[in-house]
Amino acid sequence: MIAGKTHRVAIVGGTGAQGQGLGYRFARAGHGVTLGSRDPARAVAAAAEINTRLLDSLGAQKLRGDTNEGAVAAGDVVVLAIPYRGYDAVVAGLPLSGKIVISCVNPVAFDSFGPIGLAIDGGLSSAAEQAQRLQPESHVVGAFHHLAAVSLSSGADYLAGEDVLVVSDSAQAKAVASQLAETITGRPGIDAGRLRMARHLEALTAVLISINKSYKTHAGIRIHGLDGAASTGRGATLDG
Ligand SMILES: NC(=O)c1ccc[n+]([C@@H]2O[C@H](COP(=O)([O-])OP(=O)(O)OC[C@H]3O[C@@H](n4cnc5c(N)ncnc54)[C@H](OP(=O)(O)O)[C@@H]3O)[C@@H](O)[C@H]2O)c1
Repeated sequence: MIAGKTHRVAIVGGTGAQGQGLGYRFARAGHGVTLGSRDPARAVAAAAEINTRLLDSLGAQKLRGDTNEGAVAAGDVVVLAIPYRGYDAVVAGLPLSGKIVISCVNPVAFDSFGPIGLAIDGGLSSAAEQAQRLQPESHVVGAFHHLAAVSLSSGADYLAGEDVLVVSDSAQAKAVASQLAETITGRPGIDAGRLRMARHLEALTAVLISINKSYKTHAGIRIHGLDGAASTGRGATLDG
């Protein structure tokens, strides 16, 4: 259970492995979570399954299921947890104006050599930056790219061996994503700079998948050397 402000979190694509894993973690920490889907019945079923898991978790909130649009309308924070294929059309069609929008989407392709990060707009953009361009009145954050769904859905209290790297042009949105990250890792997210850094975070996931394939595991990313250091905030911010 968290001590700070609670949020109403909408998860677009909330029936997928990543959306369910994040929803489970956020609801367990006391946030209100609505899983979204193109088929609301699928979202309701996924929410019910997680609610059963959370029955014994003190302070957990019950998840709801809805359409993606219904979930977004009910949320102040929206997590995009859909595949990159078809992403632009989905993002453009959602009522995201004024919302904090967190993209964990990794444009990664696979061929006979394994995973490879896709160069969005010739390497000059990213899924998160595309969301900001498509929805200029929203406050887009890139975060949660490197947490494996299987780890999120595990029973571990915290994923203490992992960090969440958070990028945005909005300090306020970055702070909210950082607080949400703390409910998963036990530490605030790490300020990794402006939204344009998302193109590097997203592509880094291909490296992580490659490592995990080699070692047959679900390793994550941990940043060392920041103990006791506070962010200067120079990586933000264009609020207002
Ligand atoms: N899986 C991981 O470990 C992991 C880790 C970090 C980041 N991510 C990122 O998180 C995102 C989701 O990953 P995932 O593994 O959960 O993916 P997924 O299972 O393939 O898709 C998630 C959900 O998106 C919806 N969806 C699929 N195609 C869609 C389309 N064309 N338009 C609208 N909705 C669509 C589906 O929900 P409905 O059919 O119910 O609408 C599906 O359940 C990806 O971008 C991935 O890169 C994943």
